[in-house]
Amino acid sequence: MISKEEKEIHKNAQDIINQLSVILRNAQIHNPGNIAVTTAIERFLSLINHLTHVEKSLALELVGEYFYCDDVRVRYSLEHLLNFDYLVREFKKREIGKIVFSHGVRPEDVQVFLKAFIAAGFSHDPYDTISGMMSNVEKIHVAILKKIKDGEREDARKVIKKVYYNAVSFSKGVMTKIKAGEKVNIKKAKRIVESMVDHLLEEENLLIGMTAIKDYDEYTYHHSVNVSIFSVALGQRLGMNKKMMTELGLVALFHDIGKIEIPNEILNKTTSLTEDEWRIMKRHPVWGVRALLTLRGLDQTAIRSSIVAFEHHMNYDFTGYPRVRQYAELDLYSRIVSVVDQYDAMTSARVYSRIPLAPDKALSIMMERAGKQLDPLLFKIFTNMVGVFPIGSLVMLDTKELGLVYESDIVFPDRPRVMIIVDRKGERLLKGPVVNLTEKDENGIYHRTIKITLDPNKYKINLAEYLL
Ligand SMILES: [Fe+2]
Ligand SMILES: [Fe+2]
Repeated sequence: MISKEEKEIHKNAQDIINQLSVILRNAQIHNPGNIAVTTAIERFLSLINHLTHVEKSLALELVGEYFYCDDVRVRYSLEHLLNFDYLVREFKKREIGKIVFSHGVRPEDVQVFLKAFIAAGFSHDPYDTISGMMSNVEKIHVAILKKIKDGEREDARKVIKKVYYNAVSFSKGVMTKIKAGEKVNIKKAKRIVESMVDHLLEEENLLIGMTAIKDYDEYTYHHSVNVSIFSVALGQRLGMNKKMMTELGLVALFHDIGKIEIPNEILNKTTSLTEDEWRIMKRHPVWGVRALLTLRGLDQTAIRSSIVAFEHHMNYDFTGYPRVRQYAELDLYSRIVSVVDQYDAMTSARVYSRIPLAPDKALSIMMERAGKQLDPLLFKIFTNMVGVFPIGSLVMLDTKELGLVYESDIVFPDRPRVMIIVDRKGERLLKGPVVNLTEKDENGIYHRTIKITLDPNKYKINLAEYLL
């Protein structure tokens, strides 16, 4: 459990972000003297001045997609998600990376800040505008958003790749061992998932990006890891703490473990399954329970894992399998795993259909199932997380270039980073540039915009070739 003190820090930080976004929203609609604005400012200042009483100052910093309050990363919480996203977007738009409040901030200071903030929103040099207009305000200091350098980005990518493949080879090892009747070391599984959670907290986009790599031959292992990564990322959006995220990641990693009992001829069959073969396939949830309960050292997590293995195909409305007569409610972890499991399976070259679906196609099919087979709220948070154009989507730009979505941007979901793979002249590039769709020219016009998504399979594009 997290300590009381830690809870308090998070609560305060969430309040600051909420109240700040309320002030900014109000200030953009009403004039500065409006009662809604002045009341919000007063509330905000009483909080800030209370919190800066001892330390004398308080810093709110944006790093990547996250806010840090005095160097502590502020956890996402579901109820405040909209305010969070709003503030991240508004900060980025103005190139603001940090705001430091000193003790004794007055309402007049906030009014100047609001004016500068709004003006910066219309400026071509937003940061210069805001810092210029605030040069006389002593108690509120803004600092520029740090851009992450390309070289550092590449290093981070290498580390993430290693973490991912480590997990894949581990999941392969576990399955092979259990199949052979050997004992499996669960402590190691915990370490692997812990490392995934740590890296997810630092580099969520990069790690999620790895899930776009689907390997035909090693499907089950990649799939297990992908489901684990997506689940943890979803758990993080639900405000889970690290311990819960690790447990969820472990549980998700083992959701399909019952497949070890399915003969390879069925598992690897390239044509449609017969009715008998389907019957065998549909037993993997039950076999999963059996496999998990014989593991040693998993204790509580073992029980939770076996529940999820049992429930992950039951569906939110109990129309799936195994069929049950009376059932109260699916475990939260099962509902999470169901959503991400369907997505990863549909976008991979196995199960359900032999041809993988493009990410946006899969999401639109799932949209139909939301509220029926899938938990509607979890599905909504999931789509919000993977974005309108999930990593690996093939897109046509208004420049006539073709590109692959390389890294998504939670703040501008329709403006991800895209790797150009076919240039304007129709020439295929093997190592094309990665362009940022949020970039504008000096007139404020975007350099590139996505026109439509295309099906990568139609164009025989091997994602792994590009994304690695
Ligand atoms: Fe399954
Ligand atoms: Fe699965």
